Amino acid sequence: MIILHTARLRLEPITTQHLDGLHEMDRLPEVMRYISGEPASLEQTKAWVARVQRCWAAWGTSWWAFIDPASGRVAGAGCIQHGRTTPNLPDDLQTLRTNPLEIGWRLHPDFWGKGLATEAALRMAAFAFDDLAAPELIANRDPNNKASERVMQRLGMHYRGMEPWYGVPCATHVLSRKAWLLGAGAASASQITPANSGS
Ligand SMILES: CC(C)(COP(=O)(O)OP(=O)(O)OC[C@H]1O[C@@H](n2cnc3c(N)ncnc32)[C@H](O)[C@@H]1OP(=O)(O)O)[C@@H](O)C(=O)NCCC(=O)NCCS
Repeated sequence: MIILHTARLRLEPITTQHLDGLHEMDRLPEVMRYISGEPASLEQTKAWVARVQRCWAAWGTSWWAFIDPASGRVAGAGCIQHGRTTPNLPDDLQTLRTNPLEIGWRLHPDFWGKGLATEAALRMAAFAFDDLAAPELIANRDPNNKASERVMQRLGMHYRGMEPWYGVPCATHVLSRKAWLLGAGAASASQITPANSGS
């Protein structure tokens, strides 16, 4: 179990104990608008949690639930995972190990506008570069998802272009290890600090 901490959040590897809190978020259309395009059913959230648990077992990295320590609520979720071009996970997850590591996030709307996605993203990026020795991190978004683009920019990522991931065209951003090490993010992964914008 790789639990990460930031100034305001505890990041816990997702298990079935987070199911209800995650579903409180993923059932909301405004959360899923640029992800699947539709609210998740409880069955879909359960199936996602099961996939996430398979990925943790195979790779030692996947999705965390972001816990607000004060209330115990699930404030959001985020990942460091191997990206894929296909919509569905293959049976053999080892086949994805050579794919680049991808960072991702979402928050329950009660926690938007407080800097929590960026705070968690900085900590997850530090895990990818420091613990997994990632040469680079990518992030994918719907091209209309401006809020997520701003998180990518705050992290110091640069736009690489439209690329096919998960079977759909995505706006793809990248953060190299060199840029991370040069940027402020590496120095202070638990703070909201703008990373090196020239990277
Ligand atoms: C994408 C998403 C996580 C961004 O959330 P967010 O709250 O805007 O992002 P952050 O946590 O980094 O917060 C930054 C915002 O908080 C504000 N803020 C308030 N207090 C702050 C603080 N102490 N520190 C930093 N920022 C703070 C910033 O001004 C900024 O707002 P702005 O973008 O309007 O200028 C959120 O919109 C979301 O969950 N969307 C639905 C799911 C989704 O699309 N996920 C991404 C798929 S690619």
